[in-house]
Amino acid sequence: MAKAPEIPLQLVEEIRSKALSAPRPRSLTPDQRDALFEKIKSLLKQNNAVLITHYYVDEQLQILTDATGGYVGDSLGMADYGNRHPATMLVVVGVRFMGESAKILNPEKRVVMPDLVADCSLDLSCPIDSFSAFCDQHPDRTVVVYANTSAEVKARSDWVVTSSNAVDIVAYLHGQGEKIIFAPDRHLGNYVQKKTGADIINWQGFCVVHDEFKASELRRLMQEHPGAEVIAHPESPTEVLAMADAIGSTTQLINAAKASKAETLIVATDIGLFHKMHQAAPDKKLLAVPTGGDSAACVSCAHCPWMAINSLDNLAAVLENSQGHEITIEESVRKKAMVPIQRMLEFSRSQGKV
Ligand code: 13P
Ligand code: SF4
Repeated sequence: MAKAPEIPLQLVEEIRSKALSAPRPRSLTPDQRDALFEKIKSLLKQNNAVLITHYYVDEQLQILTDATGGYVGDSLGMADYGNRHPATMLVVVGVRFMGESAKILNPEKRVVMPDLVADCSLDLSCPIDSFSAFCDQHPDRTVVVYANTSAEVKARSDWVVTSSNAVDIVAYLHGQGEKIIFAPDRHLGNYVQKKTGADIINWQGFCVVHDEFKASELRRLMQEHPGAEVIAHPESPTEVLAMADAIGSTTQLINAAKASKAETLIVATDIGLFHKMHQAAPDKKLLAVPTGGDSAACVSCAHCPWMAINSLDNLAAVLENSQGHEITIEESVRKKAMVPIQRMLEFSRSQGKV
């Protein structure tokens, strides 16, 4: 499969250092946590707001979202839910591209996030200028981008996909005889190419969490737990995916855990997912794929540094005063970006997948 040029080393270093310097929330006593729960519940009512939360954030935020009638899910489900819900304020608890997708689809609603510095290394590894210039060099190709991208990159694309529908959408495009630029995740692009046989030029972006899972350490863990099954998010390296019994989006991995007959599951994704996975499959022992051996000095250690920015403290603060926390997108960009996202949602809705 053809590859786009490597991500410049300087950009890789910038992304790693941003990940390492992401702010960390304080830890809370049970009393502080209970007080924040009550405060947030009443602020949500006052603001006519709903929480739309990703599985990777702190489990207390997931518990609060469930307790207040909000939604906890994968990035496709989050976009779909926000697009259907009648609340006038959407509070997106995840990373910035998720808030941007919500705003792109719902311009009339206020979309706020606990902290707008919640980046994503995939988004950062696909700057609009170099990506757009690259697409210009291949005008014969359909541009398919992952949801983990900026509004500008989505506006430059023909289709947006998430990990739950990337294979289906690329298979459909391949069936139409289209050649594809896929961006930005190199491992997801590889995986999609293998599954569909499509002609793809693959952007070389990476996720700081999944890219660090090590096949050699996984092999060792599998030897220690011979009956275990491996389930993996497709942003994981190709060698890790080659050892997986199930591959899919975060929601699909929860479903795979539920369906699995194995007592032990080795999971290659952010450990934030363990909260819902434990609920769905309470009898299973869950192990994380090591990121680099016992003495590894990893950037993420299986937990996204930007998802981890979200906390009960900054959630309460944004509901009290949303100044500086509201997503805004330039209207001409928003309108263009809405087309490929709507296309994706219609595709997945027509298949009954959301
Ligand atoms: P999902 O769409 O599977 O939730 O993935 C989002 C993500 O950022 C994974 O790293
Ligand atoms: Fe982005 Fe990776 Fe974090 Fe997902 S886990 S939001 S892909 S950096």
